[in-house]
Amino acid sequence: MSKLVVNTHNKKSKINKEIYGHFSEHLGRCIYEGIYVGENSKIPNVNGMRCDVVEALKEIKIPVLRWPGGCFADEYHWKDGIGPKDSRKKMVNTHWGGVVEDNSFGTHEFMELCKQLNCEPYINGNVGSGSVQEMSEWIEYLTFDGISPMAELRKQNGQTEPWKVKFFGVGNENWGCGGNMTPEFYGNMYRRYQTYCRNYGQNKLYKIACGPNIDDYDWTEGVMKVAANFMDAFTLHYYTHPGGWLNKGPATGFDEKTWYISLNKTLKIEELINNHLEIMNRYDPERRVDLIIDEWGGWYDVEPGTNPGFLYQQNTMRDALIAGINLNIFNKHSDRVKMANLAQVVNVLQSVILTEGDKMILTPTYYVFDMYKNHQEATLIESYIDTKKIGIEEENLVPNLHESASIDDQGRINITINNLSIGEDYNIEGIIVDKQVKSVQATILTSEMGAHNTFDNPEAVKPEKFTKFVITDKGLDFTIPACSVISFILE
Ligand code: AHR
Repeated sequence: MSKLVVNTHNKKSKINKEIYGHFSEHLGRCIYEGIYVGENSKIPNVNGMRCDVVEALKEIKIPVLRWPGGCFADEYHWKDGIGPKDSRKKMVNTHWGGVVEDNSFGTHEFMELCKQLNCEPYINGNVGSGSVQEMSEWIEYLTFDGISPMAELRKQNGQTEPWKVKFFGVGNENWGCGGNMTPEFYGNMYRRYQTYCRNYGQNKLYKIACGPNIDDYDWTEGVMKVAANFMDAFTLHYYTHPGGWLNKGPATGFDEKTWYISLNKTLKIEELINNHLEIMNRYDPERRVDLIIDEWGGWYDVEPGTNPGFLYQQNTMRDALIAGINLNIFNKHSDRVKMANLAQVVNVLQSVILTEGDKMILTPTYYVFDMYKNHQEATLIESYIDTKKIGIEEENLVPNLHESASIDDQGRINITINNLSIGEDYNIEGIIVDKQVKSVQATILTSEMGAHNTFDNPEAVKPEKFTKFVITDKGLDFTIPACSVISFILE
């Protein structure tokens, strides 16, 4: 029997709700079709936003949404996306499939979406191909409450009141698609651009600088050295590519070895978080600058027969485990990881939702976000689980179990636990220090490793009530089935 120990005495950091954030880019069918169908669509919508998608995202309490990219952000000129729709500029989306971008979804539409979702906007500005003036004017347009050219323009376009925008990104992947800059060059560009990102009235920006890809420690070192004092947060991008960048492998129909490789690579994010924070701390000894993982998730070969530039992929139990592991790790680092954004919310990469015409399906990843939502704004508490290494080859071994725990302001304890084994169930003795468990609400998501939902079979993978536990004097005992995610709420 493995021991799971949850120590209610050792309260740690608050788990910011923004750790459960999402990312939407003008990429493939994420914005267009996936979220925005336009007011004249036959698909039920409110001001152009799909009702089914908005409702599903509200159900998982989406706290924050990043937009307009990604790589698209450093090619996006916000003034192309305001004003009467029929006079908005049509352009080519060079990064993603070379399709026509008609700019019918722009600033007003994004802010309307966030209003419907009741979530915070996280807007990513353009450093790569945009000017300082353009970025500065976007913030003025969004947030200035007074007489100014941009505030007047906003009013002409139907929005009298300024919006509230906190999260603002100054460039994206500026080491690559955002301008191929060196860290020192970007650090200086960041200093310059952010100078003109003004706080108007009560609106206080939280300025986010572009951080590294994976283990590019030189980038972290170079940018922090130059710009640490000018930022509120620094980002990290890390995707799980099972076969590497050039040969990612299929989203479905993978073998057992690939399962363990995928989970092993996912677990590496913890080492990246620790190593990047160590460098950041040298330039920010007061630990004022937060770390944001604003792109994460599994990235595989596109679904056969789909546009390679659209990054559309299926989502299996492997993705459920990738989400479960990442979110447990983010919870455990919530002292410094203050936001994370899964890439991407609908129809792109590890989505929580897939759409086809008027149909929508929820993916295994969606259900993990639903099962983990009680961690939002709760306090991390110390937890420990006995583990053993499992897998196929020495270099790709993973722990069999993975967990995190939190306590909310009403004293309820949330435990989320993953079984990474494809074939083995494990008996667990749960010890909850200084708490007599009186009632338990538990949910399980389990199936075989490649199981996924399709438009013909939308409920192949779905959560169920979990009842196979026994409340004991010490806590609760249970058996966690192979390939599963369980969430408990203990009172
Ligand atoms: O999420 C897809 C792309 O991955 C983003 O546009 C970019 O930032 C990253 O390389």
